[in-house]
Amino acid sequence: MGVMKINPFYFVVQISFDVISSFIIFFLLSSVSPSYGYDPLDPHGNITIKWDLLQSNPGSNDVKVSILNFQLYRHIEQPGWKMGWDWTGDEVIWAMQGAEATEQGNCSRFKGGQLPHCCEKSPFIVDLLPGAPYNMQTTNCCKGGILSSMIQDPSKFGAVFQMSTSAATNESGFHMPENFTIGVPGYTCAKPVQVAPSKYSSDGGRRWTQALGTWNVTCMYSQFLASTSPKCCVSLSAFYNSTIVPCPKCSCSCQGLPGAKCVKFGETPSLLRQIKDLNRESPSFVRCSQHMCPIRVHWHVKQSYTHYWRVKITVNNLNILKNYSQWNLVALHPNLKSLIQVFSFNYEPLNQYGQINDTGMFWGIEYYNDMLLQEGESGNVQTEMLLLKDPDMFTFREGWGFPRRILFNGDECVMPPPDQYPRLPNTAQLGAQLSFSTILFLLWLLILCAE
Ligand SMILES: *[C@@H]1O[C@H](CO)[C@@H](O)[C@H](O)[C@H]1NC(C)=O
Ligand SMILES: *[C@@H]1O[C@H](CO)[C@@H](O)[C@H](O)[C@H]1NC(C)=O
Ligand SMILES: *[C@@H]1O[C@H](CO)[C@@H](O)[C@H](O)[C@H]1NC(C)=O
Ligand SMILES: *[C@@H]1O[C@H](CO)[C@@H](O)[C@H](O)[C@H]1NC(C)=O
Ligand SMILES: *[C@@H]1O[C@H](CO)[C@@H](O)[C@H](O)[C@H]1NC(C)=O
Ligand SMILES: *[C@@H]1O[C@H](CO)[C@@H](O)[C@H](O)[C@H]1NC(C)=O
Ligand SMILES: *[C@@H]1O[C@H](CO)[C@@H](O)[C@H](O)[C@H]1NC(C)=O
Ligand SMILES: *[C@@H]1O[C@H](CO)[C@@H](O)[C@H](O)[C@H]1NC(C)=O
Repeated sequence: MGVMKINPFYFVVQISFDVISSFIIFFLLSSVSPSYGYDPLDPHGNITIKWDLLQSNPGSNDVKVSILNFQLYRHIEQPGWKMGWDWTGDEVIWAMQGAEATEQGNCSRFKGGQLPHCCEKSPFIVDLLPGAPYNMQTTNCCKGGILSSMIQDPSKFGAVFQMSTSAATNESGFHMPENFTIGVPGYTCAKPVQVAPSKYSSDGGRRWTQALGTWNVTCMYSQFLASTSPKCCVSLSAFYNSTIVPCPKCSCSCQGLPGAKCVKFGETPSLLRQIKDLNRESPSFVRCSQHMCPIRVHWHVKQSYTHYWRVKITVNNLNILKNYSQWNLVALHPNLKSLIQVFSFNYEPLNQYGQINDTGMFWGIEYYNDMLLQEGESGNVQTEMLLLKDPDMFTFREGWGFPRRILFNGDECVMPPPDQYPRLPNTAQLGAQLSFSTILFLLWLLILCAE
């Protein structure tokens, strides 16, 4: 048994450490598949519809409806929310302020005089556009349906409208409608729940009045419901390796698949000439690429200093016909807890677990780069950031310098597989390549020795 002299235990310990750490990395990366409702980065995130019954007279009710985006980083972008519900009886909406129903519907049972605003059994309500006539506004209305996230702009996360409705003909009092929707892909709303009535003060808190009844409807997001295919992918590079790791092929779709439309360089789609429907999102057209994603995020490990290192992030818009206003990017990297400086983007940590602040949100600076323009020369936004080399964890080995997750506008981006990350020249990759065969060999040796 001369083999024993090489002391296999040392190697087993060394190599299994490598294997275990790559398993941990793999586990981290694979356990973050699209969220199915629960989002660890924003565990309490929801959109709440608050329904306040302000007055209830025989035959008529006054209602104030608020839609509030309680999500840290997801926002509602154009074409905005479109709230719907089902009346339980034959209620109609006589008048509305701060929003409007998309259809008036069949009001023929009302003869003479002024007709109701909406007689639909299942009305759909949309926000007014900014600059709506003053007499149609309410405070906090008229944002064209766009709601900011809590972090990005806490002053614009909600919208309010008021309406007067008739009661159902053979009912007295008020009946809460059912089956709420907000008309944004990916959101499902729960049943209305009666909660403690909202209180209002018109004199700064000396006297409070309260709603006759308040109901909450909670709506939750699921990326899987929004779209079964991703909308964004990540490419990687580093100063220490000339390889640029592209987005994985077919990240979002594959060229040539039925239904996968893309526009070759130099072409413009014929749809440009068609009329736009204001309440509906225009179909998206992307530039042809091997990943077919409308958004590509590139993470470049740019430079290493004695105590710091520098990362450059570039977001490319590959949509031909879509600008992203108020875009945001969420990144997860352990070194974000020692972030020193972010250039030309806003940054806010998403500090969900107290000490562990390895996740942060980036967004554009107003009037400078808060609009990510459609594909073309200026269809990108970029930032650089400076991070402190945390002595207890920093390394360029094993792809540590690359992000663990990236989300664009709240949707998970597809990352390249970890074994393709740009590597440090020599040494680093040797261990990983050897590990499996070596460990098997050594295990076999150990079994032999034990016998
Ligand atoms: C919705 O978000 C608000 C604000 O974070 C929170 O108070 C409320 O409990 C949440 N609702 C649900 C059902 O999670
Ligand atoms: C709500 O939706 C359910 C399922 O689609 C339907 O059966 C029910 O009638 C709806 N409620 C009202 C008041 O229309
Ligand atoms: C109104 O009366 C009709 C007939 O009695 C009944 O079927 C219907 O459910 C009533 N409407 C409501 C909202 O209760
Ligand atoms: C409109 O509603 C009335 C009753 O309210 C009904 O008789 C009529 O058929 C409806 N018209 C259409 C086009 O549905
Ligand atoms: C109902 O919604 C309001 C926000 O509109 C929130 O402050 C309140 O906590 C909610 N109540 C419940 C019980 O979820
Ligand atoms: C995007 O913004 C640019 C510059 O403001 C504008 O020229 C272009 O028409 C916009 N595209 C769309 C699809 O709105
Ligand atoms: C991360 O959290 C630590 C401790 O809570 C804090 O000292 C540090 O400033 C935070 N870093 C960032 C970039 O937010
Ligand atoms: C750069 O990284 C790639 C991908 O991991 C690897 O195949 C290549 O060997 C690396 N180049 C050098 C010079 O180490």
